[in-house]
Amino acid sequence: MSKLYIIGVGPGSKEYITYAAKNTVKNADITVGSQRAMDLFTEVNEKIIFNVKNLTEELKKAVILADNGKSVCILSTGDPGFSGLLKPVKRIIKEENCKNVELTVIPGISSLQLCAARLEISWDEVDILTYHGRENSKDIINILDNGRGTIMLPSRSVADMASFLIENGVNPNRKVVICERLSYTNEKIVKTTLSEVVNSEFTYMCIMVIY
Ligand SMILES: C[S@@+](CC[C@H](N)C(=O)[O-])C[C@H]1O[C@@H](n2cnc3c(N)ncnc32)[C@H](O)[C@@H]1O
Repeated sequence: MSKLYIIGVGPGSKEYITYAAKNTVKNADITVGSQRAMDLFTEVNEKIIFNVKNLTEELKKAVILADNGKSVCILSTGDPGFSGLLKPVKRIIKEENCKNVELTVIPGISSLQLCAARLEISWDEVDILTYHGRENSKDIINILDNGRGTIMLPSRSVADMASFLIENGVNPNRKVVICERLSYTNEKIVKTTLSEVVNSEFTYMCIMVIY
């Protein structure tokens, strides 16, 4: 069996890379990841960089290289199991009928965890949800009305997300915290309301907490 690792690389700063991640990358034949993720590692053997456009194609190549005997690391931002690369990689392994791949997941610190830490939130007191892959899904709106806070991974800009929620009946006066670019030097944490987020300008790299 050959080794395929999916490695969580944390929210973006080198400070949050685990020893397990560094060590596994150092020892692998090939490492595949976005430029942002690759830049976090100093000791890398062969590199393959992907971007949003060629992601599926490059993941497929990585899985096939592993099936053919190479040890391969796939870098996934945050934790691979939270709207990360674990799901698509498992799908590809199945679709390509890879028989020689032994998959190992190395967890990373999710942007969700860092958000909870910055805001001193206990995970067991909030709901956690992602809109990734569920664009326009209205069924999770009920979760927002259950009296607990919600930490949300938006699937588009936070301004569009706020408009969508308000259009679907969520109170515009709800308190919201936007955590942008967590762990980077220009990290920003803004306490506001849902209606104010509609006219805001944040990058795509945001977590929303709705109270
Ligand atoms: C494809 S998801 C991957 C989530 C990742 N697996 C995790 O555990 O953080 C990418 C989204 O995660 C959020 N994200 C990732 N890194 C972030 C950071 N440093 N600060 C704030 N949000 C971040 C943003 O919402 C971004 O659009």
